[in-house]
Amino acid sequence: MVYDIKGKIALITGGAAGIGLAYSIELLQNGLGGVVIADVNAATGEDTSAKLNEEYGAKKAVFIKTDVTKADQLEAAFQLAISTYGTLDIVINNAGVMNDAHWELEVAINCDFKNLLDVPSMLEQNTSLSAWTSRSERYYYNLTGIRFLTMCPGVTGTPLISEADKFALVGYPNLGKLLAEDLGSLPPQPTSNVAKGLYTMLTTGENGSVWVSEGGQPVYEVEIPDRNTLRKN
Ligand SMILES: NC(=O)c1ccc[n+]([C@@H]2O[C@H](COP(=O)([O-])OP(=O)(O)OC[C@H]3O[C@@H](n4cnc5c(N)ncnc54)[C@H](O)[C@@H]3O)[C@@H](O)[C@H]2O)c1
Repeated sequence: MVYDIKGKIALITGGAAGIGLAYSIELLQNGLGGVVIADVNAATGEDTSAKLNEEYGAKKAVFIKTDVTKADQLEAAFQLAISTYGTLDIVINNAGVMNDAHWELEVAINCDFKNLLDVPSMLEQNTSLSAWTSRSERYYYNLTGIRFLTMCPGVTGTPLISEADKFALVGYPNLGKLLAEDLGSLPPQPTSNVAKGLYTMLTTGENGSVWVSEGGQPVYEVEIPDRNTLRKN
């Protein structure tokens, strides 16, 4: 599989900062035609898109304030891609939070892909999608031609990790401290390494493939075991 991203249009949720921002930079450096940054943080998002336009050329990035838990806002982000660039090729479902005190919001942002997948234009417009493996079933792929690829970053230097100890479940003694120790014991990496991995995954990954980027090392693909191989006896 070789997928050329030159001239393609991407939408990145949570793209104002952190790993999402590194994705925009990596893809624009490799010839991406344009990127819609859909993030709930308007101040950072506007600033980020202005800087990307300065660096990579006018209209390479547009920002739209988007809360991914709101279907209408997500749909508006898709519409912005179409009205600005005339198409949408790549969706990167990257927005995420770590705040166990607000676990319902955490689940809604991190795990509920219903809103994303309900947007009909995706099925018509996209040729590539980074989201969730269950949608990579051959049935959907044959119907739409959309690849579903999954990136699993290891510990990567963003506030989500550096401040994780403050946002662990409340009421459990030392949980935040133990979490920080656990995360601190894993090899760290800059956001640019995940972004390099994303580029490899996007340009070479087969539908349904799952990739790991950790410790500043080259990205690698993992095999998810067939459930029949999991039986103990
Ligand atoms: N940093 C890591 O080590 C690591 C490891 C594994 C997975 N991840 C995942 O990678 C993704 C990016 O994480 P990061 O480390 O760059 O975090 P980050 O906090 O630096 O960036 C997250 C971005 O998501 C945005 N966001 C939050 N809630 C949103 C919402 N409701 N709608 C739209 N945007 C929203 C934030 O404004 C922010 O710009 C997350 O899904 C995270 O779970 C990160």
